[in-house]
Amino acid sequence: MTDKLIPLKIAGVGYSLPETVITNDDLTKLYDTSDEWIYTRTGIKERRVVSGEENAIDLGFDAAKKAIEKSGIAADEIDLILAASSAPPDLYPAIACHIQARLGISKAIPAFDITAACSGLIYGLSIAKAYIASGMYKNILIVATDNNSRLVDWTDRGTSILFGDGAGAVVVTQAEDGIDDIIAIDIKADGNYGHLIELAFDGKNCPLVEQYQEKPKGIRMNGRGVYTFVAKILPHYVEELITNAGMKAEDIDYLIPHQANIRIIQAVQERLGYPDEKVVTNIKYYGNTSAASIPIALAESVEKGKIKLGTTAVLCGFGAGMTWGGAIVRLREGIC
Ligand code: UT7
Repeated sequence: MTDKLIPLKIAGVGYSLPETVITNDDLTKLYDTSDEWIYTRTGIKERRVVSGEENAIDLGFDAAKKAIEKSGIAADEIDLILAASSAPPDLYPAIACHIQARLGISKAIPAFDITAACSGLIYGLSIAKAYIASGMYKNILIVATDNNSRLVDWTDRGTSILFGDGAGAVVVTQAEDGIDDIIAIDIKADGNYGHLIELAFDGKNCPLVEQYQEKPKGIRMNGRGVYTFVAKILPHYVEELITNAGMKAEDIDYLIPHQANIRIIQAVQERLGYPDEKVVTNIKYYGNTSAASIPIALAESVEKGKIKLGTTAVLCGFGAGMTWGGAIVRLREGIC
């Protein structure tokens, strides 16, 4: 530990998507819906889903390998693994522990999961920033991976249309040049709105006692309620994050938002007064990949040359909890 706060460098990012594509037209085989209904309300045309044995650990491991490779840090130099997921195949071992094993890290390091739904990447960055600033850990791997297709109720057309599977990963380390890549970060939750998106995890009481009413299986969402809640708070919240950092919206090069609904993204975009070129969206192709959506959007847009490096971006996300958060970050050359 040290008295001086250590700055953080974003060293590498990576992402992974399953190969199978399910289009809006494909969904018409499951229930009464249409491409027109889904696209106009959400901006989604298709999403990726796992098939067979593939799961959130596989996707997260793939994204982690890519981020580690870009970072130039060896897997066995990682001091801490954080995994953000709402769709772990097992409640334990944690996804972070699975990934430690898959990476072949045999030394004992801390590894744990974060449950903050779609805000998971921002929560992970916030935790990593505190650990790095304190000098407690030097190299941290954050994996955000979700496998919503295994958790949605595929008879619920109001919810299952939205989600897709995918993973993103970020490696952060101490910045030796003294420049902190996290210019500002903030995370929030308001459990009073927890009922808006729920996913029950329960079993049965001891057979010798009275049983309880089991909750329905699958993701249950009050879509209208979530929309209203988020549209009310998020644009103002992101604007305030920027102002509190002593910056103006025009000082920031890109908006990389959680990909949940194109109309929510546009509400933030309008508030910041950004043209389309400054806003990263891929919801059309991947739907809502929960915690993975921000790092996928970041890594893919860099890889495909849609955004330049040596720039700054504001990230923002929200999800079940309700949770939300935002970060203003520097994107250095070489991260992807
Ligand atoms: O990270 C997770 C965050 N979650 C979100 O960001 C969700 C935010 N909310 C939304 O994106 C929108 O609320 C939805 C896209 C989920 C739903 O749009 P909506 O305009 O709020 O629709 P609604 O739920 O109020 O339903 C309107 C109508 C209903 O029919 P009636 O009762 O008016 O006859 C629904 O039954 O649309 C019907 N409907 C559908 N029709 C065709 C609901 N889902 C579908 C569908 N296809 N897939």
